[in-house]
Amino acid sequence: MQENIQNNDSNIDFLFTNDGSVGLYNYDVDDIYHSVFGAKSEAKDKFVTPLNFENNFFYKNELNILDICYGIGYNTKTFIEKILQTNYKGKVNIDLLETDKNLVFFSPFIKDGFFKNNPEISYIILRSLFDEIKAVDFALSDIIENKKVKKFFEPFYRRLIKRFKFDRYTYDHERCKQAFLHNIYYHCISSSMKIAHKCLKYKDFEITPYIGDARQSIKALSKLYDIVFLDAFTPAKQPLLWTLDFFSELYRITQKDCMILTYSNSASVRHAMKESGFFVGKLLDKQNRHCGTCASKNPEFIKNKLDEYDTGLMNTSAGVYYIDKSLNSSCEDILKEHKERKQKLNLESSSHFIKRYKNMRECRQYEKI
Ligand SMILES: C[S@@+](CC[C@H](N)C(=O)[O-])C[C@H]1O[C@@H](n2cnc3c(N)ncnc32)[C@H](O)[C@@H]1O
Repeated sequence: MQENIQNNDSNIDFLFTNDGSVGLYNYDVDDIYHSVFGAKSEAKDKFVTPLNFENNFFYKNELNILDICYGIGYNTKTFIEKILQTNYKGKVNIDLLETDKNLVFFSPFIKDGFFKNNPEISYIILRSLFDEIKAVDFALSDIIENKKVKKFFEPFYRRLIKRFKFDRYTYDHERCKQAFLHNIYYHCISSSMKIAHKCLKYKDFEITPYIGDARQSIKALSKLYDIVFLDAFTPAKQPLLWTLDFFSELYRITQKDCMILTYSNSASVRHAMKESGFFVGKLLDKQNRHCGTCASKNPEFIKNKLDEYDTGLMNTSAGVYYIDKSLNSSCEDILKEHKERKQKLNLESSSHFIKRYKNMRECRQYEKI
C-alpha cells in the first residue's frame, strides 16, 4: 500500500517494506530509496554488518562517520544500534549529507522498526537535530498529520508533536527542548533501568546535518572520516555522487583505516573508486550473492577482494566511470559526456565479456580434467 505526498522539493511515496519498516519511492528520479525486502534490514546487511565493527573500529577513541544521502536515516540509525549493542565507549561524530531537509527532520519520527526495542536511537538523533527541527517551528507536523501518510509515523511522536504545537508550551527555546526530550525520555526510555543506564553516554553522540548537494557540502568538510555510507540513487539515473571526482574528494577526507560502503555493484563505480586510489572489494550476502561494494585505503579492510571476473568487467564499456570535474555539472551533462566517451573508447561490451569469460572458465576446467 503506497501513499503519495508532495514534499517541498520532491514527489515521494511512503510504503511499508517487507520487514515492516517504512520505505520511500521518488517519482522525480523514478527510483526507490529502500529495498522493498526491508529498509531496516538492508541497512544492516549492506552498510553496518560489513564494517566488521568489532575488529576494525571498536578500539578507536573517537569515530567520525559520514552518512551521504541520509534520507530518513536507516544507515545512521543502524550504526547507532550497533554502537549501543557493542557498548563502545568513545565519542561518535556523525555528519549527514542530504538535499531534502524534510526527510532529515522527520526521520526520528518515522515507523522505522527501532522504536519498540531501541527508542533511544530516535532520542539520540533528536538531541542533535532538535534546534534545526524547532527552527522550522514544527511545520513538519503538517506532513506528519497528513491523513494519507500519518500511519507511517510513530503515534507516540505524533501525539507529542501535536501537543507541543498546540498546547501549553510557550517556553523559551532551551526549555522547549528540555521539555520535549524529557517527555521522550520519561515515556519511552527510563522505564527500563538497563536502557536508562546506557543514556549516560548519549552525550557522546554528535550528529550534524549538512543540507544541500553533497558535492558542495563535502568541499567544506575538514575532518578525516573512519566510515562513509554512500547511499545515492542508482548511478545510471543519478550519477552525481558516483563520479571519479566525487570519489577523489572522498579520498581527501578519509583516514587510512577507513571503510566506504555502498549497495552498488556497478563496474563503473568500482572503477572510479579504484582510480581514486582506494582498494576495492565486494560485499556478499548470506547466500554468497553480490550485494554491494566496499573501499578502503587499507587493503586489510577488504574481506572479499575483486576477482578476475569483477576486474574484467571494469575494463568493459560497463566499467567506464562518470566524470564531473567541476563537481557542479547537471545529471544530463554527466550522462551525455559519459555516453560520448564510451562511444569513443569503443570497449568490449559487458555481455560479450561475460560470454568470453564463461567459455574461458569452461576451457580451463576441461584442461584440468
Ligand atoms: C537512496 S536514497 C537514500 C536512503 C537513505 N540512506 C535512508 O536511509 O533513508 C537517496 C537520497 O539521496 C538524496 N540525494 C539525492 N541527490 C543528492 C545530492 N546531490 N546530495 C545529497 N543528497 C542527495 C535524496 O534526497 C535521497 O534521500
